[in-house]
Amino acid sequence: MTQDELKTLVGRAALKYVPLGQVVGVGTGSTVNKFIEALATIKDQIPGAVSSSEASTERLRAIGIRVFDANEVEDLAVYVDGADEIDGQGCMVKGGGAALTREKIVAAQSRRFVCIADESKRVQVLGKFPLPVEVIPMATQRIVRQFAALGGTARVRLQDGKPLVTDNGQHILDVTGLAIRDPLAFETEVNQWPGVLTVGVFAQQKAAVCLLGTSGGVQALNF
Ligand code: 5RP
Repeated sequence: MTQDELKTLVGRAALKYVPLGQVVGVGTGSTVNKFIEALATIKDQIPGAVSSSEASTERLRAIGIRVFDANEVEDLAVYVDGADEIDGQGCMVKGGGAALTREKIVAAQSRRFVCIADESKRVQVLGKFPLPVEVIPMATQRIVRQFAALGGTARVRLQDGKPLVTDNGQHILDVTGLAIRDPLAFETEVNQWPGVLTVGVFAQQKAAVCLLGTSGGVQALNF
């Protein structure tokens, strides 16, 4: 099976975790796009969604799903999103699509994080995928130095030769050279650095279940 087919498989499998009659939290990325396509089949049975990015909002609206502001909904039963990496405890690296801040916000107001991913995302130790960190631009170079002190190399993510600007008007650093053996401690530390808006380690908001697309089918990993 191709990676695209595996994404379709897990996108569809996530449907059975969506309680009918309730607003669903929707992440961002190519795997989530498959989930959004699957959601179209039950769009008349859910009131709508809370979205983690402008890109997902556009897709949801295009298929006729109402998008609520996060402030209009107190809590969500389920948040469905992809990951760049997921470890054996359900901790993840996210933000490859630059949507990590809103993803963490929607995940925080959800009771259950359902991660959908193909098997290439499963790792023993987080950190091989360049870690996305959303930063306030005036703090960029100091944060680059703080990562260097931890052995990481941080680079500003570019788009068309200029720093990429997120949905929140900020920049992204991608950090290589890290081996994140204690994701919760790492997330807690980096979160405290002035100018860090969001670090792309999801340990506080880790997955409750991962639907992993494999050549043998969908494996549900419960954490
Ligand atoms: C976006 C994300 C995505 O969930 C992550 O990058 C995985 O994306 P894809 O499903 O395209 O591989 O965190 O900010």
